[in-house]
Amino acid sequence: MNEPILPISRRGVLVSSAATLAISSASSVLARNASAPAASVSMPVTLTVNGTERSLDLDSRTTLLDALREHLQLTGTKKGCDHGQCGACTVIVNGERINSCLSLAVQHSGDEVTTIEGLGTPDDLHPMQTAFIEHDGYQCGYCTPGQICSSVAMLDEIERGIPSHVSDELTTRMTATNAEVRERMSGNICRCGAYSNIAAAIAQVAEG
Ligand code: FES
Ligand code: FES
Repeated sequence: MNEPILPISRRGVLVSSAATLAISSASSVLARNASAPAASVSMPVTLTVNGTERSLDLDSRTTLLDALREHLQLTGTKKGCDHGQCGACTVIVNGERINSCLSLAVQHSGDEVTTIEGLGTPDDLHPMQTAFIEHDGYQCGYCTPGQICSSVAMLDEIERGIPSHVSDELTTRMTATNAEVRERMSGNICRCGAYSNIAAAIAQVAEG
């Protein structure tokens, strides 16, 4: 009589299956733990926002954008892509324009932050806000706070002699060409395509 090719008993199969199941569940637990987000850590953060000192206790992973919108209710600054690609979240920090979605609030403790709410008020608009209205520099308006903050800081950059990528020659606010202004503003996307009107508004302010 021939020997069975696989002399495995029914009990052996059950024991082996149970062992496989145990190993596979242990692996899933390990995989789950490996992909689990790190525990949150709260940190004190003090920012001077639009001239007022604001102290917050924030999860260390909170972006500056979320700190402004969710914790300080300054919703003028918009969240577009949340990945540094559209410029809707532009604010001015210590005189420089930045994408607030790309940096953590804790990195800015002690910094001075200006948002669209701090540039002007409905009764006392910033000249750039007035120019955007006069030149129809917006349609849906979603990109507009970022465009205006960026424009204001961009003209300051020209005044401080920061060169553009368009030309090595330094320009002034008055002599900056349309191409240079558009290049300097290229980090701010307008899905409505109001670029010509935005450039006209900036030119009006640049000319004083
Ligand atoms: Fe920050 Fe788009 S929301 S760059
Ligand atoms: Fe609509 Fe710029 S006005 S995205």
